[in-house]
Amino acid sequence: MNYHKFDVVIVGAGGAGLMSAMQLSHNSSIAVVSKLYPMRSHTGAAQGGVAAALGNTEEDHWQWHMFDTVKGGDYLVDQDAAAILAQEAVDAIYDLEHWGMPFNRTSDGRIDQRRFGGHTRNFGEGPVRRSCYVADRTGHMILQTMYQQSLKNQVRFFNEFMMLDLIMSDGQAAGIVALNMLDGELHVFHAKTVVLATGGYGRAWRVTSNALACTGDGMAVAYRRGIPLEDMEMYQFHPTGLYKVGILFTEAARGEGGYLLNKDGERFCLRYAPTLQELAPRDMVSRFIYQEIAEGRGIDGKDYVYLSVAHLGKKLIDEKLPEVIDFARNYLGVDPYYEPVPIQPTAHYTMGGIPTDIEGRVVKDENNTVIPGLYAAGEVACVSVHGSNRLGTNSLVDLIVFGRRAGKHIASKWLPEADFAPLPADAEERAREQVETLLSRTGNEGQDAIRQELRDMMMDKVSVVRDERGLTEARQQLVSLKERYSRVRLMDHSRTFNTELMEVIELGNLLDCSEAAIAGALARKESRGAHYRTDYEKRDDANFLKHTLAYQTERTGEPELRYKPVVITEFQPKERKY
Ligand code: FUM
Repeated sequence: MNYHKFDVVIVGAGGAGLMSAMQLSHNSSIAVVSKLYPMRSHTGAAQGGVAAALGNTEEDHWQWHMFDTVKGGDYLVDQDAAAILAQEAVDAIYDLEHWGMPFNRTSDGRIDQRRFGGHTRNFGEGPVRRSCYVADRTGHMILQTMYQQSLKNQVRFFNEFMMLDLIMSDGQAAGIVALNMLDGELHVFHAKTVVLATGGYGRAWRVTSNALACTGDGMAVAYRRGIPLEDMEMYQFHPTGLYKVGILFTEAARGEGGYLLNKDGERFCLRYAPTLQELAPRDMVSRFIYQEIAEGRGIDGKDYVYLSVAHLGKKLIDEKLPEVIDFARNYLGVDPYYEPVPIQPTAHYTMGGIPTDIEGRVVKDENNTVIPGLYAAGEVACVSVHGSNRLGTNSLVDLIVFGRRAGKHIASKWLPEADFAPLPADAEERAREQVETLLSRTGNEGQDAIRQELRDMMMDKVSVVRDERGLTEARQQLVSLKERYSRVRLMDHSRTFNTELMEVIELGNLLDCSEAAIAGALARKESRGAHYRTDYEKRDDANFLKHTLAYQTERTGEPELRYKPVVITEFQPKERKY
């Protein structure tokens, strides 16, 4: 057995994982285990900014940010967590600044800020400049900044190691088992603490802004270990993905004054959201686009509309939107200096995930019972600051605020008391069986067809709009895909950098995450935020102002669903108007 022993094992080297590592590095032994080289983590794809009520360019207050987050999330947000998000965002941003993050600056040298969807002044009066940014490569610069600092602080990295299992010992997390991609060997990481920071599962959809790596690994591994997944039916579509390709064209384009046009050249958002217009929250703008297309006002009668930035001028575009302009040129052959960009909603962000409390500790039930030694932060987690619709730029805040809180809690409260839970005798058994079964199986069920069908099914039936019929079909299809997956065979039986093996394991993870999402969506007979059901068009607070917890069962496609209350402190649910 390849055996390692650390105080803390952090799985995932994106923003949340690195931020946790930064809080710990001086006092404890830490390993960051990542299936990617850290700089390829999906945090790097976040473009437009990170929200914090600094008030650098106009008046702003953390209470306004908290309110926008709660209202944006259609009141499924836990308000104790939203208050922390909005307050601690400010310090977390200054941490980044002090570590060398090259933010865009105002003329007097402060961090510049810009507008983003759903962020308002004075509880909804109009848009506010709250997003701190580095052109349209904010996430990439967060990664650069924190990776450099982690190396400086001697954090130990295990790159291209893929987590296959979580080791539990008498109810406590005791470590993980990971596959070294280089040689196919399994490694046991024995730890007092495991932090899951492995990101979302956006590769379950055909049109997606998510990197190939976003396959829900942490969620699926936890789910298979009896840990519930919370609010998985709440999946965000970003309104402006490049047509068919899905790559993000940042919301900052609209924050800087870009607008959306239908086939008649009409700025249709003005009709739907007179106050915030193109800067209404994402669930709404995605639905506006969906409706324009459904009513025949897509461009050339097709399933896309235009995003125009040409009127902003080359100088502003070059300074603030340089990356996305090149994406449009390279992937669509369209030059946004002169032409509008074809866009469509693209699968973007997992708002649900592994349930945690406000310290980042994973909880296992509706009573918020903590699993000792297990933390989660970032997109993999659901501390529930996004509810049923995340505001743009609140993802990077979530990473840095709750990654930071988890790290601080581990350092100050958990590690001083904690001991290593004994490793079970068969610590790597499940992972070994998973790998050996896949490598030795014969038959003719290939992975590509299963993946393609999953992605088409999620795109068509678990999308911007849903209904009972589509979701029921999705559940049946999922059962059949899982059955076929249980017979999947590999072409490559080698152990050296076997990317096919990795992809098949990832596909299994996507299937498990999708199962929880479909079950939650079927049971939630209301419309709320990103979960819009044409057969139940109204939000139903009397019956559904609650979080879904999905537990895996023996019955494929049918997790056990339990519910827990939403934490409401300041803001009583109201109708959302923008
Ligand atoms: O549009 C964007 O730049 C995306 C930001 C986000 O998802 O927070």
